[in-house]
Formats: sequence, C-alpha cells, structure tokens
Amino acid sequence: SRSLNLAVIPGDGIGQEVVAQGLKVLSAVLPQDVKLETKEYDFGAKRYHATGETLTEADLDALKRHDAILLGAIGDPSVPSGVLERGFLLKLRFAFDHHVNLRPSKLLPGVATPLAGQPEIDFVVVREGTEGPYTGNGGTIRKGTEHEVATEVSVNTAFGVERVVRDAFARAQARPRKKLTLVHKNNVLTFAGHLWTNIFNKVAEEFPEVTTDYIHVDAATIYLVTDPARFDVIVTDNLFGDIITDLAAAVSGGIGVAASGNINPSGDFPSMFEPVHGSAPDIAGQGKADPSATVLSVALLLRHLGYEAEAAAIEEAVSADLAERVGKPARSTAEIGDALAVRVAG
Ligand code: IPM
Ligand code: MN
Repeated sequence: SRSLNLAVIPGDGIGQEVVAQGLKVLSAVLPQDVKLETKEYDFGAKRYHATGETLTEADLDALKRHDAILLGAIGDPSVPSGVLERGFLLKLRFAFDHHVNLRPSKLLPGVATPLAGQPEIDFVVVREGTEGPYTGNGGTIRKGTEHEVATEVSVNTAFGVERVVRDAFARAQARPRKKLTLVHKNNVLTFAGHLWTNIFNKVAEEFPEVTTDYIHVDAATIYLVTDPARFDVIVTDNLFGDIITDLAAAVSGGIGVAASGNINPSGDFPSMFEPVHGSAPDIAGQGKADPSATVLSVALLLRHLGYEAEAAAIEEAVSADLAERVGKPARSTAEIGDALAVRVAG
C-alpha cells in the first residue's frame, strides 16, 4: 500500500486554522489504500521567542525525511522584520533547493476581480526560487553616514537559469495553449537579462511546439491588468516573480485563493506548499480566514506527488464552493473546510 508522510508547519496567526482545514480535505480526498502520516513542527514566532531559533540543521534533517511539507504562514509583528523571512522561509527554500516557485493564477467562476468585465485568467508563474537578489549577496560601506553605499547583488547562474527555464517549458508544453513568456528587464539589466534571454532561446529549440514571447517586467504589470488572457506560463527571476505574483493574485480572486509550491523537481528534497497569504495576525483565532488558498496548495502538493485525480478533485471542489458563495452569508474557516471535505469525498 502507498503512504504519504507529510511535515506540517502551521506557523503563526491564521496558519493554524487554515492548515487544519487543508489536512481535513487531504484526509477526505486520499484513496483508502494511502496511509497518511503527519508530523507537526512548531516553527514560527513562538519557537523563536522561546529558543531564539528559527530553523536549525537538526530541523532540516528531520524535515528532509518527509515526502512533502505543508506550511500555513510564518510571521508575527512581535518578531523583527526579516528574522523569520530569512531565518526560516528563505533558509528552507535555499536548503531544499526549491528552485521552482510555482504560482498558478486562475479566475474561478463567481469570484470577483477588480478588473473590468470577467476576463479569462488562467496562467501559471514559474518564479525562480534560489537565485537573483534573494541570495543575500551584498553589503554596505560607510554604514549610517550620508555616504553609505549598499549593494544587493542579483546572482544568476547558467545552471540555475537553465533548469528553471527548462521546467517552465515542460509545464507550457503540457498545457493546452503551450505558450511561454519570459519576463525580465533585459533592456537595462543587460548582464542577467541577456543570460536569461540566451538560455530561454536556446532551450526553446528543444520545445518546438511551445510558442514563446518576451516582455519587460514593467510592461508585464500592464498586461496582467489590461490583458491577462495573453498569459499561459510565465518564467521569471526571483524578485520579478515575487512582485508580479502578488499582482496576479490580486486580479484573480485575491490572496484568499492564491496557492503556491516551492518545488524541488528532482525530488532530492521535499517540496513545500503554502498559501501565498501571510499570517494575518489581525484576524487570527477568529475563524474568519478563508482556507481555500491552503486547500488549493494541498492540491498542488498532491499533483507534485503524482496524485493528479485527487488534485483535480480538490480544485473542482474549491471552484464549486466559490461559485455557490455568491449572495450567501459568510461561513467560518472550519465550515468552509467541512464543505470542501464533503465535496471531495462525494
Ligand atoms: C513570498 C514572500 C516571501 C518572498 C518573503 C516573506 C520572504 O513575499 O513568498 O512571496 O519574498 O519570497
Ligand atoms: Mn511575495
């Protein structure tokens, strides 16, 4: 019989509440013969205040043994900005080589968008996850003086760019429209931009069925708002991807439904799946948070592990649930989770 050994990191704020619903739906959708094992980890603000630790080598060793990781949200106003971001989230992405940061955007029926009309939105951003300006490569001199100089170097390796570009081509190839857009800023960032463009064009030769184009990141923000239907798969660097996926979430139903995967495609390390939203401490513990983004992250997790039918069942359930919400009173986090669990089981 099969087994799924999951590391669960509820984290801070609403993380606890939404992860509980994600697990509820996961248990409901998994076939009988799959043995689900979960182990909860206490990373986040509480652990940091108690021990000063964010993520130790021993923690990484423990996490390594799981098939995948489900994360709620990490972050709390009581922890100085940057501590948990660098000490937990980015540390984990780098340690487990999560170089494919997968962020789908799909506007589901009945879901409101700030855009005019009801545009077709169904694209996925493949954001590079381990390079760019996120590597912490930089420094400052004459600190605190009016002549301070700070650098934040964007690191782009041929190896790192090629593997994420190839992954994006494969994802585009597998989708009906087979279109891949490179988003960068190669008119100004001529070193990194040309590396990306050259590798993109080279890998394109291996995927003759995939239609390609290139858009500067500033123009991409226009099209994401005026013509999101033009996008199918987007591949881009770590920081551009960070920015445009928030915009993408805002136009395609908001962060209540935005899911993401931090993926190590080789399987050398477990991949981590998390809602794009944060810990929302202002509404924590009130049962108000929408668990849909976490539940959709569970779908990405299942798809990554080969459970395609179960992933699709979850996506259909969330879609149907959202469509039926229109005009009805708001439900609690647990009520939405219960409804989704019933749908995927039935
Ligand atoms: C995200 C977040 C993180 C990022 C922060 C919290 C480090 O904004 O997952 O998009 O910049 O990658
Ligand atoms: Mn972000």
